[in-house]
Amino acid sequence: MIEIREILFDERTISKKVKELADRISNDYAEKDLVLVCILKGAVVFTADLMRCLSIPVVIDFVRAASYGASTSPSRGIVITKDIETDIKGKYVLLIDTIIDTGETLDCLLKKFRERGPLGLETVVLVDKKPRRTVEVPLAYKGFEIPDRFVVGYGVDCAEQYRNLPYIAAVEITK
Ligand code: IMP
Ligand code: MG
Repeated sequence: MIEIREILFDERTISKKVKELADRISNDYAEKDLVLVCILKGAVVFTADLMRCLSIPVVIDFVRAASYGASTSPSRGIVITKDIETDIKGKYVLLIDTIIDTGETLDCLLKKFRERGPLGLETVVLVDKKPRRTVEVPLAYKGFEIPDRFVVGYGVDCAEQYRNLPYIAAVEITK
């Protein structure tokens, strides 16, 4: 069982922030061949909103990454379980996730994508759970910072539920 404890970011607050980030991206990537890479499944809602606020042409693609090993184990690894279909060589790539926690997912995807020869490779995250970071990840575009709290909504799940909530809320997991 989970209990919604507190709405951290409501629909209006998120929408305003998404527009701000999109304006910066449209500005920075004008005249560039931009590929948006949505990290499934959590970034689906954020990507859909962000891309509709962009004023520049973009290509979108999707990647799915899964982690194995306990989150605290040093042998934790990330594998791509669904890869993008776009050839990113010579293109500008923006990796999109709704929330960054330890940073392992983005760090691993950055490393794997860098080997494919993009001209540019940067990240966009809406929510940064900074106190949990174990690996440094450059965040070119960042929406909000939160303390170490478990959140759901706006694409982010708890056991695959709550992704459809239009807001981001902190939850308490009870038995
Ligand atoms: P990282 O590799 O530890 O940075 O994990 C990033 C992924 O963990 C995100 O894409 C989310 O799927 C998931 N995640 C991190 N924090 C939360 C949370 O508070 N609630 C739900 N999922 C989370
Ligand atoms: Mg999840």
